Amino acid sequence: MTDRTATLSFSDGSPSVSFPVLSGTIGPDVIDIRSLYGKTGKFTYDPGFMSTAACRSAITYIDGDKGELLYRGYAIEDLARHCDFLDVCHLLLYGELPDAAQRADFDQRVTRHTMVNEQMQFFLRGFRRDAHPMAVMTGLVGAMSAFYPDSINLHDAHQRDISAIRLIAKMPTLVAMAYKYSVGQPYMYPRNELAYAANFMRMMFATPCEDYKVNDVLVRAMDRIFILHADHEQNASTSTVRLCASSGTNPFAAIAAGVACLWGPAHGGANEACLNMLYDIQAQGGVARIGEFIEKVKDKNSTVRLMGFGHRVYKNYDPRAKLMRETCHEVLSELGLHDDPLFKLAMALEKIALEDDYFVSRKLYPNVDYYSGIVQKAIGIPVPLFTAIFALARTVGWIAQLNEMIADPEYKIGRPRQLFVGATPRTVKPIAQR
Ligand code: ACO
Repeated sequence: MTDRTATLSFSDGSPSVSFPVLSGTIGPDVIDIRSLYGKTGKFTYDPGFMSTAACRSAITYIDGDKGELLYRGYAIEDLARHCDFLDVCHLLLYGELPDAAQRADFDQRVTRHTMVNEQMQFFLRGFRRDAHPMAVMTGLVGAMSAFYPDSINLHDAHQRDISAIRLIAKMPTLVAMAYKYSVGQPYMYPRNELAYAANFMRMMFATPCEDYKVNDVLVRAMDRIFILHADHEQNASTSTVRLCASSGTNPFAAIAAGVACLWGPAHGGANEACLNMLYDIQAQGGVARIGEFIEKVKDKNSTVRLMGFGHRVYKNYDPRAKLMRETCHEVLSELGLHDDPLFKLAMALEKIALEDDYFVSRKLYPNVDYYSGIVQKAIGIPVPLFTAIFALARTVGWIAQLNEMIADPEYKIGRPRQLFVGATPRTVKPIAQR
């Protein structure tokens, strides 16, 4: 509770009303306006949620001005350097990093669920081979509720936990299957002796005639991509998952909604859009044409944006981008790609944008997707699969947020209101008079 209040007064002489001001552990206070409509008959108006906290959450904290990101209180830098993805999954889901026994148990539970129902491949077969992987993933994840009906009761904590483990364990298998289907290669079954990221890469790149040689630098890079994308507070896809699950639907359906939202180029689709932008500049002449491209981006009459730059919350360097940049250089060195024209172009574009006043004055820095796209491309991941890998990594965050919402005593179905600007009541005229 709080003894501080905020008072809202009106210029039309209506009586003032007061609302409690609530404080979190860190971050901005919030004005609790839940009683506003009851007291005044008025709503607030905040499209894009620029000033609205939609829930209480104890999972992820971002300070966009400082460029700080914490998962359950741990700095992302600390986690990226000292933990692997499954540690982070445990942390996000259960609130604490696992001790040795908890970790062994978690590994065992995830590993036991990596295979998908064999029928899933027949379902997958219904897609065109050239279908976008996010279209396929939206379908496959949604279909999981039909394959695993024993864990779809959102209000049963045990079933929710089984669904969480199933989703975390099976997402790599499904993403790899979507890839193999698109290139017409046989699916590779998971190998449970491999660590999570290595197993995913093997399912992607091995074939029945040639196994995948695990490269530690590349596996670490993939694991880091997973860690950095695991959660990010109340972003568009997470809010979608919460809103979807608030109706009581099953966890697989809610996560499928998150996958669909993530697909958009202003969100998870940015890494794909970023690589496509690099290809376009490359096709037009490469590094020599950067100046021209930047001018187009700055032109108020053009809709061209520098993809992979800018962020709604970070108005400083995204800490994930710094870590991904580090990984990017490690991977390019490991693969001897520093002189590759596409990667040279990416680095030159980054340098110019970081120095240009247009970007500096608007606090537009490279975001994590700028570098994660380059890293994935270097590793050999096809560009259309980038967002599916983001979805794989974000699944744990979506589930942690969904579980938090269901366990919150204040949880209600999400139901925003509106400022209606349409027609006032009118009557239907006979068709001849319309
Ligand atoms: N390139 C050029 N100009 C930009 C860019 C960009 N990438 N991003 C923002 N701006 C400019 C806008 O034109 C605007 O300029 P103005 O003040 O002169 O009108 C100003 O910066 C503010 O931009 P907004 O659109 O108001 O910023 P918002 O917070 O709404 O948008 C967003 C954030 C959507 C991420 C935006 O920066 C963008 O489109 N970036 C490119 C796409 C991208 O990389 N998305 C990934 C986000 S990270 C993630 O999902 C993991």
